Amino acid sequence: MCDEIEHRKKLSKTILFMEGIPSFGQIKPIQIITTLPEQLNYDLQLETQCIKDYDAAFHAFACDIQDATTAHILSNIAKEETQHARELEQFIKKIELEGIESV
Ligand SMILES: [Fe+2]
Repeated sequence: MCDEIEHRKKLSKTILFMEGIPSFGQIKPIQIITTLPEQLNYDLQLETQCIKDYDAAFHAFACDIQDATTAHILSNIAKEETQHARELEQFIKKIELEGIESV
């Protein structure tokens, strides 16, 4: 989660630099999840959506807007989110293979 806070700070600084107003008002409602596997799978869904969103933003800034600096920031964030998704996938696989007691 610390990475996500840093991502938010980087994006906010970038938006402010471009004289925009950062807005993070579209926060998803809290999900009530009672098991670790459900939680991990939900987290993986969120990470996967983040990767798609950052990739789309990267392409918009790299190709349409031609802002290489912002595109670079978005690309780096997408790479970090991809790593988060891989870690979650590995954790989910470990639980599936070895049981929840193994974690
Ligand atoms: Fe993440």
